[in-house]
Amino acid sequence: MVQKLQLLHEGKAKKVYSTNNPHELLLEFKDDATAFDGQKKGRIREKGALNLAISVLLFEYLEKENIPTHFIKKISTTEMLVKAVKIIPVEFVVRNWTAGSLAKRMGIEEGIKLKKPILELYYKNDELRDPMINEYHIEAFELAERQHIEKAKEYSFAVNDALIRLFESVGIILADFKLEFGIDSKDEVVLADEISPDSCRLWDAKTMEKLDKDRFRRDLGRIEEAYREVLKRLETRR
Ligand code: TMP
Ligand code: ASP
Repeated sequence: MVQKLQLLHEGKAKKVYSTNNPHELLLEFKDDATAFDGQKKGRIREKGALNLAISVLLFEYLEKENIPTHFIKKISTTEMLVKAVKIIPVEFVVRNWTAGSLAKRMGIEEGIKLKKPILELYYKNDELRDPMINEYHIEAFELAERQHIEKAKEYSFAVNDALIRLFESVGIILADFKLEFGIDSKDEVVLADEISPDSCRLWDAKTMEKLDKDRFRRDLGRIEEAYREVLKRLETRR
């Protein structure tokens, strides 16, 4: 029996609890939504449960594709048990289409398919608003070890290939997404955090309708419906 013990950390979208097993943590997904590094705040009904269900589905799928993840099992509609890992303070953003900050930075419109995927690294630090960094910063500031970053980069592209295929099969374009990685007790890199419409840009392949957190960021409405649609389509692939 898993016991939910102490609240160790409360993030913007999740709470992390210790359990009776020191090698396992419990993640509780919240309905709270933030954007622009916490400047915009709100709540999306059922978001915790929807993001949990979508993350579980995607982690299980990625494990089958030989990508190790922190996921152990689902505990309730909003809680999952995960491996306790040391989170690498770097966000790995993979992009297949122009959107968001890339479109802005390059002065280009959204919705253009890139010739090849782009991987960007950001320093995970809310106060600094997650600045973009590169591998020299990671080494100079000792944010992570070189071999861990190499492995995380390899997994980022492998996740991209696998998720493009999966989403394509349910009529969804994976425009971009963000991953986080952790180091487990055996010094292995594993995929951590969540993969959900909060951390991905997902577009309906026919209509290009947004099915992700941009609906919240840009006040487009029907947010919960969009997340539910993503889950519904993925469930057909189980
Ligand atoms: P961006 O275009 O704002 O840089 O975002 C790229 C992708 O990464 C998008 O799918 C949203 C996701 N993302 C997060 O999950 N968390 C973040 O803090 C940021 C900035 C982006
Ligand atoms: N996740 C970040 C925040 O909550 C940035 C974003 O998604 O726009 O502020």
